[in-house]
Formats: sequence, C-alpha cells, structure tokens
Amino acid sequence: MWSGRRWIAGWLATAGLIGLLWGCPTAERAKEEEGPVTLVFKHGQIEGNPAAFQKLLRQFEATHPGILVRDETLPSSSDQQHQFYIIGLEGGSADFDLLSLDVIWVQEFARAGWLRDLSPLFPPAARAAFFPGPVDAALFEGRAYAIPWFLDAGLLYYRRDLLEKYRLDPPRSWSDLAAAAQTVLREERDPQLRGYVWQGKQYEGLICNVLEVLWSAGAEVLDEKGRVVLAGAAATEALTFLRDLIGEGRVSPPMVTTADEETTRRLFGEGRALFMRNWPYAWVLFQKEGSAVRGKVGVVPLPHFPGHASAAALGGWQLGINRFSRHPKEAEALLLYLTSPEVQRTMAIETGYNPTRKALYEDPALAAAQPFTAGLRDLFLSARPRPVSPYYPMLSQIMQPEFSAALVGIKPPERALHDAALQMKHLLGEPVR
Ligand code: GLC
Repeated sequence: MWSGRRWIAGWLATAGLIGLLWGCPTAERAKEEEGPVTLVFKHGQIEGNPAAFQKLLRQFEATHPGILVRDETLPSSSDQQHQFYIIGLEGGSADFDLLSLDVIWVQEFARAGWLRDLSPLFPPAARAAFFPGPVDAALFEGRAYAIPWFLDAGLLYYRRDLLEKYRLDPPRSWSDLAAAAQTVLREERDPQLRGYVWQGKQYEGLICNVLEVLWSAGAEVLDEKGRVVLAGAAATEALTFLRDLIGEGRVSPPMVTTADEETTRRLFGEGRALFMRNWPYAWVLFQKEGSAVRGKVGVVPLPHFPGHASAAALGGWQLGINRFSRHPKEAEALLLYLTSPEVQRTMAIETGYNPTRKALYEDPALAAAQPFTAGLRDLFLSARPRPVSPYYPMLSQIMQPEFSAALVGIKPPERALHDAALQMKHLLGEPVR
C-alpha cells in the first residue's frame, strides 16, 4: 500500500502526465482558473424575434463551456455603426471581439488592418457554399476578412388588396408605379394614405435607393475599369424622375427625404402607403399577428425604365473579428457557429434574416416555415453590389449630400451628378477635364 505522501506524489505525477497528454500547459490552466472568457459581440438591432437570437447565443455558451457571449446592440443605421467602429478601431480598441460589418465596409477595414485574416477559416472550398456577391465583398487582395452572415436586396412592397380593388397589376415600370399611385390616391380620398414611400434621408440607404433607380435606367457609378461614369443622360433622367415624384399630393410625400428603413416600414405597416421600397426584413413584421397589413401585402422586383432591367442593391452584413481582440480563437468559434447552416436556418425562420448559404434556399424546413425567404434566391443572385472598393465609404460620403441636394430641390439633378462625379474623380486620382 502507498503511504500518504507517496500517494500524493503519484497522484501529482499522474495528473501532470494527463495534463501533458491533454496539452494543457500551465499558462492555459492559469487562464482557465481566472474564469470564463467573455466575448463581446457588437451588431445592429435584431428585428423579428430578438428572443430567438438570444436563445441561439445561449446555446453557443452551453456547447462551449468557458466562453460567455455579451452581445451589444448599436444603432440600426449603417452610417452610425460605421462611425462607432472607425473611432474604436483607429484607437486599437479591444473592447469588442466579434463585429457585424455592412458588406460595403470590409475592404476599407481590411486595408486599414483592423480585421483578423480569416483565410484559413474561410478557404475557397468553404466559400463555394455562399452567394458569390457577399463572398466577393468579404475578400481583400485575395484574402478573407469576414464571413457573410445575412443578405439583403431591395424590393417593392405593395398593397395587394388596394391594387386588386382597382384592378391594377403590380407595376413593372416606374411610370406604371406613378400611374397606379395616382389612381389609388385619387379614388381612395384617404388623407392618411401615401403613394410610394422609400428611403431618401441623407445616409447610406439613400445611396441604395438612388442607385437602384439609376441602374434601372442603364446608368452606372463606375465602369468596369473603375473609372467614374456617374454623370450622363441616363443618370440625369433617373434622378430627375425620382425628384419629381416628391411633393405634397404627389406620388411620394416630402417625408421621404428624411425617411429611413424603419420610418417607411412603420408607415406602410400601419396601412398608410400603397407602395414601399425596403429590404426583405419587413415581410416577417407585416405578417405578425396584430399587423394592420397582415395578408394584404405583395412583393415584386423594383420597377425599371423602358428598355432596361430592374435592379436591386445587394446589401447585407458580414461577421469579422477585431484584430485587437484578446480572444480571437473563441471569437472564431462564435463566428463559425453564427454562420453555420443550422443557425442561419433558425435566424431565417425566427427573425426573417436571409441566409448567405445558397443551399438553405432549397431547404424543406425553411421553405415550409418561411416560403417568402425561400423565394428570394433569384433576387439575391441578380442583386447588384455597390462599388466593391476600400474607398467605397468615401465615395458614398461624396454622393450622399449631392443626391440629397437634388431630391430636396436645392440643386438640379444634372449639377448634383456632375459635382459628385468630379469629387469622386479627385478621390480616385483620375484626371479631371
Ligand atoms: C441594410 C443593408 C446594408 C445597407 C443599409 C443601408 O442594412 O443590409 O447593406 O448599407 O441597409 O441603410
């Protein structure tokens, strides 16, 4: 029999051996003794069913002992979130580990050295399962700095009951939309009812709305070589059309020039608009019990000008890891979990967030629970990205005040486009004639 001391020594040796076999060096053990790692995950407002999202985070904690997740919500506007990150990351902040990034920022952040290189986590073979547009936006100089989380694309929502009442078809062209709105507003004589609401406030959403109209007239911001081609007859015609929709008693109320996604979503959701441009997230909210428009809404692609195709802006959010994070490995585990097929399926069903994985659009469980989402596959495949460039946020900052000035009527559209193009050329170092 072992004496007490020999027993303790033997136990220590065995424990040490087990420790070695498990690859558990002293430093790591010390870390474990300090308690669990708390990951800070920053993201925008979760619409739909935020409780379901919380449940997913708790499930992650349950399957990853030693990791706790504290999620922190930022304001819903993309511009405000961008501002928050720029300030923090420029200062090398390690206050957050995982961050959700608008598709349009990844290049800028990667170039600045603020994001962890995720190429080993997201190799080409893994990328093939995702839609190509957001994957492209996650790469910078061939390396991956984010993994696509959910997708967005612009859509036209319409009041099916009102169009049916006046035997009108959902519009295909912009002039169909204007004519239908004028008919319904005239006949309904409802002072609360508006025609077409969209996002015309001076912010990123304005760029999406204006570009969709410009693209649907055949205009472009940059050509395939990256040269600025924004100003031109097609762009002028499209921006003038959009401006002329706005006015008291016209197709779009003046409030659109200060409206964002939620302002218009609420107005349409209260039954006070015939048409609305918005992202897919609004659908789930309209179908909720108690919604004034439940069962009365339809969606179609956005209208276009004659001879051109309809265009939806590609939006969406990606997940990246702060390069200054003290817990990059744990953050990677959370990132992989949140972009996994299972979590994306649950998010699609519960919160109406659209998966970035193509196969989920063929998934029977998703199709049964959320046929609307399953039907968006083609829209996402054809949606158009805003210019993919580390300079995009600066291009947007140039276009925003110019588009806004044209829409509120303080600058002729042609002048606004010309001024925007000139500043963009300066920024990109193009010769200016
Ligand atoms: C949505 C889109 C995002 C876009 C933003 C504009 O959040 O997903 O890509 O930039 O709206 O408001």
